[in-house]
Amino acid sequence: MSSTSTGRGPIRRIAINTGGGDAPGLNAVIRAATLSALSKGWEVLGIRRGYMGLLEGEVDGEPGIFPLTAQTVRGITHLGGTILGTTTRGNPFGMEVRESDGTWGKKDRSEEIVQRFRELEIDALIAIGGDGSLQIALALQKKGLPVVGVPKTIDNDLLATDVTFGFETAVEVATDAIGRLHSTAEAHQRVMVVQVMGRHTGWIALESGMAGGADAILIPEIPYSLDKIVAKVRERDATGRRFSIIVVAEGARPAGGTPSYVDATGRYGGIAEQLALELERACGKETRTMVLGHIQRGGSPNAYDRNLALRFGGAAVRCIAEGSMGSMVALQGTNVRSVPLESAVKDIKRVPLDCDMVLTALQLGVALGD
Ligand code: F6P
Repeated sequence: MSSTSTGRGPIRRIAINTGGGDAPGLNAVIRAATLSALSKGWEVLGIRRGYMGLLEGEVDGEPGIFPLTAQTVRGITHLGGTILGTTTRGNPFGMEVRESDGTWGKKDRSEEIVQRFRELEIDALIAIGGDGSLQIALALQKKGLPVVGVPKTIDNDLLATDVTFGFETAVEVATDAIGRLHSTAEAHQRVMVVQVMGRHTGWIALESGMAGGADAILIPEIPYSLDKIVAKVRERDATGRRFSIIVVAEGARPAGGTPSYVDATGRYGGIAEQLALELERACGKETRTMVLGHIQRGGSPNAYDRNLALRFGGAAVRCIAEGSMGSMVALQGTNVRSVPLESAVKDIKRVPLDCDMVLTALQLGVALGD
C-alpha cells in the first residue's frame, strides 16, 4: 500500500454517508470501510440521512454526525437498509426548504456542506450511492471536498462497474416471485404480468425473467409491440401451455408510446396494469398483475452482494490511503478497481441489445416485445 496522504497531510478522519434509495449491502460497505479505516488509525464519522446530518445538529432525534466504531458496525454485514439512514430528497445543491409563504422551494446548501467538512476536519468522504448520489459527490469533489464513491443500486445501471451491489439480491427476490407465480398461473390458466423495478433500464427484468422462466420479458431498451406478446400467449395456448408469465420492467413502454408514471415527479408505475388490461382484451384470457415493488430492495443481501459490498468498502479505504480522490470503486471482470467518478456518472448503463443474455433469450423463444 502506498502513502497515507492525500497531498494535504496525513489522513486522520473520514466520513461515510449513504444517499438515494437503499440497496441490500449498504451496511456491509459501512462495516468494511469503518474497520479498514480504524485499522489505519483513522477516525470514522457516520453522517445521517445523506448530507442531512451535516446540516442539522439532530436528525430524527439522533445526532446528525456520530462516530463509527468497531462496536457500531458489529454484526451488520447481513442487515438490509442502512444504519446511517438515507434520503432521496437530500441533494445539497437543491435542498427542499419551506418558504415564508408556506410553499416549498429549493436552496443550494452545498457551500455549507464544504464548510462543515472543514470545521469537522474531515479529510475524505466515502459516498455510497447510485447515479444521483454520485453526481452530487462529484459536484462536491469539484468544490474541493475529497470524495471516493461506492456504486450502489438494485438497478445495476451505473457505468464503469460491471455490477452494483444490491442488484443480485433484487434479481434473486424477483426470480423467486416469478417462480412461485408459475404454479398458480398454470392452475388457473391465467396470464400473470409481473412488474419489477429497474428505473430506466431492464437489468432486473431481464435477469430475473430469464432465471424465472418468463415467457415474455419487456424492458425499456426494447419498446414492445402488444401484438408480439399476444402472439406469444396464443402460441403457448395452442401448444397446451394455457398460462403465461410476462415480466415487465417498470420503465418499459410500448413502441411509439411513453412509459407509465405515477405522478409528475417521474416515478414509474402502472405499466403492469395497463398491459394486463390490453392483454386481457386481446387474448380473452384472465390476466392478473403482481407489482413486486420495494420487496426487491428490502431484507438481507445475498452472499454475492455481501461480499461485493465488503470488497467495495475495503477498496474505498485503499483509494483514500493512496490519495485517489474523485474516484469510484468498481468491479471490472473479477477485480475491484478505482475509476474516475466522472466516468461513472456521465451516462447510465443500459442493457446492450447485442449482449449474450438478450441473444440467449431470443434463442430460447422468449418474447422480448419487438
Ligand atoms: O433506484 C432504485 C429504485 O428502487 C428504482 O428501481 C425505483 O424506480 C426507485 O428506486 C423507487 O424509488 P422510491 O423508493 O423513492 O419510490
